[in-house]
Amino acid sequence: MAEMVSLTYQGKTYELPLIEGSTGEQAIDITALRKTTGLITFDPGFMSTGSCKSKITYLDGEKGILLYRGYPIEQIAEKSSFIETSYLLIYGELPTQKQLEEFNYHIVHHSMVHESIKNFYDGFPNNPHPMAVCSAVVGALATFYQNELSVRDDREVEIAIHRLMAKLPTIAAYSYKKSIGLPLSYPDNSLGYSENFLKMMFSLPCEEYVPDPDAAKVLDVLLILHADHEQNCSTSAARIVGSSMCNLFASVSSAIYALWGPLHGGANQAVIEMLQEIHNNGGDVNKYVAKAKDPNDPFRLMGFGHRVYKNFDPRSRIIKKLAHKILDKPGYQEPLLEIALQLEEIAIKDEYFVEKKLYPNVDFYSGMIYKALNIPVNMFPVLFAMGRLPGWIAQWKELQEDEQFRISRPRQVYTGATKRDYVSLGHR
Ligand code: CMC
Repeated sequence: MAEMVSLTYQGKTYELPLIEGSTGEQAIDITALRKTTGLITFDPGFMSTGSCKSKITYLDGEKGILLYRGYPIEQIAEKSSFIETSYLLIYGELPTQKQLEEFNYHIVHHSMVHESIKNFYDGFPNNPHPMAVCSAVVGALATFYQNELSVRDDREVEIAIHRLMAKLPTIAAYSYKKSIGLPLSYPDNSLGYSENFLKMMFSLPCEEYVPDPDAAKVLDVLLILHADHEQNCSTSAARIVGSSMCNLFASVSSAIYALWGPLHGGANQAVIEMLQEIHNNGGDVNKYVAKAKDPNDPFRLMGFGHRVYKNFDPRSRIIKKLAHKILDKPGYQEPLLEIALQLEEIAIKDEYFVEKKLYPNVDFYSGMIYKALNIPVNMFPVLFAMGRLPGWIAQWKELQEDEQFRISRPRQVYTGATKRDYVSLGHR
């Protein structure tokens, strides 16, 4: 018998069931609230709302814990690969050798895009943001694969998953190459996922390109660290769009747009732009910390704070360690790195940041690594999207298979004008 929570309203007491997750978190089940009491809940930004039950990712923001299907992110980052992690997130268990080989085979062999897709890139204006390009092209995949749009046909969903995982790096690298006027590079099926992406980004037809194994390794770990983060903004977008039984291509396209904003996946780009601004204005880090603390100044320190983590983000710890593989390479010099380190040191000790539990988040460090890998700043959110893709897919799939599947349709508290009569133009 479920424990109940009592709600007293207008002299009547209502019993609401308490549901409990596998790690002990508790939620009041309010699905019958409106029907029984006439009330709805009000929770802008969903600060206290659980939108679903999920078995994919667990995070404890107070303790700084992140688990993918129960496995600690620290172990996954150290021992797994992005492809294996994707399988784990999407299908729920670590794959056997055979399952991993098959999954990898399908992804490798779907990496080319239809030649007509290249024409899309010619249609965009010069220098479009690659997030807009990636979202548009991913959405357009639905026009090329019209036999994979059913959300209730396992085989169709399966192929759509392979195609998305395989093609997003190609679509992303094409968007970069196009923006700098260089020829598009085709995928190389002999390479691993991250190596192949680096090759498509940086190889030229006129010279040999061998991906740096350190760069590929670091990129692979960064993709793993971004692979899922439970019900964040873009994942919720994927679920909400998917809840209309809309196909996977369209749902992922929407998620890419949701990720683009500077408060979400655009933050890694915003971090570098902020560091550059500090650098251009003389490098006075304290001035910017003071601006961030000033309640009358809208400026925020990009890369600090998190809706859920009120402790060090465990992903930041992993990235920080990993960063040295790239940032300490002989000859690598980056003035923004010095500013970043100063900022980190000051903010971590500053009373304002300590009191509000604003720690450096994953984007604070990832931007510095991407920069060292020569990835242009506007491609940073695209890298985030590539990493988050298996999470969106897993969450979308879980929604479609959920016994409680319903279209998402929140309510509102209407605060506009009450009924009034139309006033004709001459009388206004
Ligand atoms: N710099 C200065 N003050 C901040 C910052 C910051 N980066 N972040 C939060 N605060 C303050 C904020 O002003 C507020 O103060 P007060 O209580 O006096 O009004 C308090 O801390 C709580 O902030 P909030 O905006 O209510 O918190 P939130 O949970 O709604 O927002 C956040 C979380 C990540 C949007 C926010 O911390 C932020 O804007 N950070 C900078 C952008 C950023 O780095 N985003 C990447 C997030 S991690 C990647 C991802 O998972 O998407």
